Amino acid sequence: MSNSQNIQWFPGHMAKTKRQISETVKIIDAVAEIVDARIPISSRNPDLMGIIGDKPHIILLNKCDMADAKATEKWIEYFKNNNIIAIPVDCKSGKGINAFKDTIKSALSKKLIQYKEKGMEGKPLRVMAVGIPNVGKSSFINKIAKNNRAKVENRPGVTRGNQWFTVDKELELLDTPGVLWPKFEDNTVGEHLAFTGAVADRILDTELLAMRLLEILIEHYPQLLTERYKIDDFCEESYDNLCLLAKKRGMMIRGGEPDTERAAAMLLEEFRNCKLGRITLEVPNA
Ligand code: G4P
Repeated sequence: MSNSQNIQWFPGHMAKTKRQISETVKIIDAVAEIVDARIPISSRNPDLMGIIGDKPHIILLNKCDMADAKATEKWIEYFKNNNIIAIPVDCKSGKGINAFKDTIKSALSKKLIQYKEKGMEGKPLRVMAVGIPNVGKSSFINKIAKNNRAKVENRPGVTRGNQWFTVDKELELLDTPGVLWPKFEDNTVGEHLAFTGAVADRILDTELLAMRLLEILIEHYPQLLTERYKIDDFCEESYDNLCLLAKKRGMMIRGGEPDTERAAAMLLEEFRNCKLGRITLEVPNA
């Protein structure tokens, strides 16, 4: 269970994490960036690419079990066009974890050959796992390394407190030092993180949030709304659609008015639990 809902980002905290990652990048061979396949842009850290420079980098499109498979394909293509390997994973079931291991080893095969040539055969590849809170980083580490914490040892350049995991004899994984932040100054990013439950929505207006989600769903996945809520005639105004939703679910308050607050909470909850079906909220630019 993640406690990311309580995480506060502040400049000092961010600067420290940035420094720790910059230091750590020097002693690792590659970065595995975990993102939420439903919101592959909003769930990224805006500064990561700058921090890791030209280090080999793989993106894990996690929670692909909840994302639209066609959209995930498009994202894989998009990242490929930007010279980044992206692979779909589901860290709840473990699907895609083996593909990740194979992909990272083949992406770093030259390094393994170099180790051999230098008489360092057997030296494992070191990969740092990074991701903003709630993308499933702990689940990923758990699935790939089964909580197999590596022995604490002094390694040059590694900040104390860094946590290493042994995956197999060729691969070691390092948990991110510090907590990565999303691009929280961007409203759309904040909204998308709230839809997926990655940030607390108690500070947000639930009805407004649900109305925004409805707008996106009506535009991109109207058939899923129709199937789930039996609404086939959507209104122009978002608020009217929320009323419609309440009526369809028999959510009324005294006086026969639709209980839009309850309907909003229900929509968000059902979206987060994938009850409407597999949905991706962000599509790559053509
Ligand atoms: P974090 O370390 O990045 O903060 O994330 P964490 O692994 O704690 O995962 C956040 C939530 O996302 C957890 O649910 C986790 O089970 C879920 N999750 C992670 N990966 C996947 C995935 O590939 N598919 C699906 N469907 N869910 C995934 P939770 O409700 O917070 O906890 P719990 O119900 O697992 O106890």
